[in-house]
Amino acid sequence: MPSTSKLLTDPFLQLPTPNSVRVVWFTEFAGSQHIVNYGENLNQSVIATTTKLSRTREDQKSRVGNQTEDGIYQQPVIRDIWRHEAEVTGITAGKRVIYSVTSVDDGGVSINSNIFTLAPAPNPGTPMKILLTSDHQIKPMVAANLQKVVETVGQVDCVWFAGDLVNISDRASEWFDDNRGNAFFPCLQGLGSYEMNWNGEKITYKGGEIIQHAPMFTCIGNHELMGRFARENSLNGEFDDTIPRDIASKLYGNESLKDNSFNSDTYEEIFTLPESTGGKTYYAVSFGDVRLVVLYATNMWRFPTTENRRKGKYEEPKEDLQNPVSWGYGQIIYEPIVKGSNQYNWLESELKSSEFQQAKYKVVMLHHPPHTLGDNIIPAYTDPVQIIERDEKGNIQNVRYEYPKDADFLIRDVIPLLEAAKVQLVFFGHSHLWNRFVSASGMHFLETSNVGNSYGAAYGSRKRDNVPVKGSDNYIEIGDPNGLEPVMPAISPMLGEDGKELPYISSNEITVFSIFDTGTGIVSSYWFDTRQVNGDVIKFDEFKLT
Ligand SMILES: [Fe+2]
Repeated sequence: MPSTSKLLTDPFLQLPTPNSVRVVWFTEFAGSQHIVNYGENLNQSVIATTTKLSRTREDQKSRVGNQTEDGIYQQPVIRDIWRHEAEVTGITAGKRVIYSVTSVDDGGVSINSNIFTLAPAPNPGTPMKILLTSDHQIKPMVAANLQKVVETVGQVDCVWFAGDLVNISDRASEWFDDNRGNAFFPCLQGLGSYEMNWNGEKITYKGGEIIQHAPMFTCIGNHELMGRFARENSLNGEFDDTIPRDIASKLYGNESLKDNSFNSDTYEEIFTLPESTGGKTYYAVSFGDVRLVVLYATNMWRFPTTENRRKGKYEEPKEDLQNPVSWGYGQIIYEPIVKGSNQYNWLESELKSSEFQQAKYKVVMLHHPPHTLGDNIIPAYTDPVQIIERDEKGNIQNVRYEYPKDADFLIRDVIPLLEAAKVQLVFFGHSHLWNRFVSASGMHFLETSNVGNSYGAAYGSRKRDNVPVKGSDNYIEIGDPNGLEPVMPAISPMLGEDGKELPYISSNEITVFSIFDTGTGIVSSYWFDTRQVNGDVIKFDEFKLT
């Protein structure tokens, strides 16, 4: 009987070393033999190790199979997905090798992927094109964006992804097969099929065949985290149901602390990344002329108000004041990066290492913006200060959170370290727009994540409306709260309604990507109008790392 099985993803590359690279793919069957075939005529092979994802599920909000609106799934249901990984060794820098993968399904039928190319990490001195991207979150412009990357620059050598890969990390279809055609892997593998509808004109974009050939380094964004396990009846509810570890420990004891607070298990199970004392969550890696330092710097995103009984940025909902188990505890920082923390100490020693100091290009990637016109830089990146207000009898009247700007851990503790270590580029996401900055010492800051659902720029007369009080020095409504002026794009800035040049791109029609060419040291940014399928891709900015 012919098999109807197929691979859930194409293979993709991970963790290149000077003489090896990992190949990873997924199936919906356990199968029996999972093999990478490679080399001339594909006559060499290596057997993969298979694991099963432990937390992937579908629910009411999944758009998968026949479920096109909330309905078929009534609550989160486990989805069985197997991951296969093999290490191809004994390969040589600078020489691409062809490969394909084969999985034998539960009925004994062999299923082959197409043929792609792999290579180990390049030697220093090898020019590379690196794609800088972030915040895909199954947003409307991702497929168009990645399709234009390949059409514009061809095959890239590496992808840096500054966090927020999907919206809800444990929802399997967001990674693999959302039926709108814009899931994470299909878009990065040229297998998407996302239809945009512009005033009746329908345009379908498919993404780009990128990560089959190019390794990807990612960092954790707030959307890679899930909250307390299965306490809510939906995955979105579970995502919001995050509490700090120390509170979880007080409420539930120290057993199953991850299930009772938050976890990034699905992200860590999907990717094979370099590891440090922080496991996969923060790390550093050498790739050609670049030393890339990846931080775990992201906090829980919460709404500015407590409308609809939401756990807020600035307060707890009135309905839950007597019930600390239901509090959100504000925009908690998942992993400490404050001076003296494990991550900070690790960063300090990494910046002193010879791998870092000798690298031609020193780059730091993190999710949270140190400088941006975007809204999500408010409030400051610091531990929420909880203030419980009581009446004279001691009854709780209000639970508030403040975020003192002078205690911003990134600005106060981390950035001075990076400046002293002569980092040339800090790359981040989170606010869904393009903008860049340069510090007094010449360190560049770039946010290039415009793939749809832009949240706007606090520039000109447009003020942030996510502040708790207007006119406060603690919650800045216009511009970069941390004091840098945005840099005007060097080639061709967008124009505002008043005809004046704008130092940012924040659009739900125009998408942006950036390419770092390590041969020239130039970071180039491009925009593309998704309403015009055959429109030009416009290079609008470039700057050079020196
Ligand atoms: Fe984010």
